[in-house]
Amino acid sequence: MVNANTELIGLFGHPVSHSKSPLMHNAMFHELGLNYLYLAFDVQPENLQAAIAGVRALGFRGLNITIPHKEAIIPFLDEISPEAKLIGAVNTVVNSNGKLIGYNTDGEGYLASLLEETGVQLQDKKIIILGAGGAARAISYALAKQQVKKITIINRDETRAEELVLSINNSKIDVANFTQLESCLHEAELIINTTSVGMSPNITGTLVKNEWINPQQIVSDIIYNPLRTKLLNDADAQGATIHEGLGMFINQGAIAFEKWTEIKADSSFMRQVVLDSLI
Ligand code: ATR
Repeated sequence: MVNANTELIGLFGHPVSHSKSPLMHNAMFHELGLNYLYLAFDVQPENLQAAIAGVRALGFRGLNITIPHKEAIIPFLDEISPEAKLIGAVNTVVNSNGKLIGYNTDGEGYLASLLEETGVQLQDKKIIILGAGGAARAISYALAKQQVKKITIINRDETRAEELVLSINNSKIDVANFTQLESCLHEAELIINTTSVGMSPNITGTLVKNEWINPQQIVSDIIYNPLRTKLLNDADAQGATIHEGLGMFINQGAIAFEKWTEIKADSSFMRQVVLDSLI
């Protein structure tokens, strides 16, 4: 029940109207009997600074930050976690006694979901990441901290892939040219798509030909609309293990939830709430 003591969490993005986060978090607050309310705000880029001043003035407990504000918000915060600093993007803010602290829960959320859903042993694995945007940065940072053998970034714009490698600065990460995609894929054990290719409404898109996939591989896509992309359908047909994108969304949210409330979220409950809303 909303009352004078309700703690507020905001989602700042532009646009925000399609986000499943308000539904997912409010259901979890309700289920756990927590007096929190999660609201989405469509914040124009030129109003971001004023919106953050509002968070301070009104004493919001926290925020989620989405496109296009994940990088732009950094100068307006008081502290940035080392991880968010390296990734160069914030998706979660906690108001700790008036101090706004920025985090990035995407990489950790991805890793939790990958391990939970595929049971993969990451030790000595050769990994290909397609794409070099914010999601690729978060995921490559999280994976490079594991005992993996090599992470190769392949992006249409190779300069962006090189910038990613420079900023994450881990010797396990390298870059390959887009024209080497086929040969790189042959030796990869885990293939991760972080590009928007295959996302609704362009659901027939994929960067990978199905004959480039073999049954020993794990193929992972962070897109969750559709729940199963063309890449994952092709990989499934080739006998590979597949990992859908919804788990990353759920787990990044569960980690943020725990930062705001200091109470553990039930990620399977959150997943069910989101799945029910998609049918
Ligand atoms: P996010 O922060 O969610 O990762 P982003 O920064 O917009 O999003 O990154 C989108 C990724 O999808 C980029 O790697 C982009 O490639 P470029 O850097 O070359 O633009 C990739 N991408 C989008 N459309 C693509 C397409 N048609 N073919 C190949 N890559 C594409």
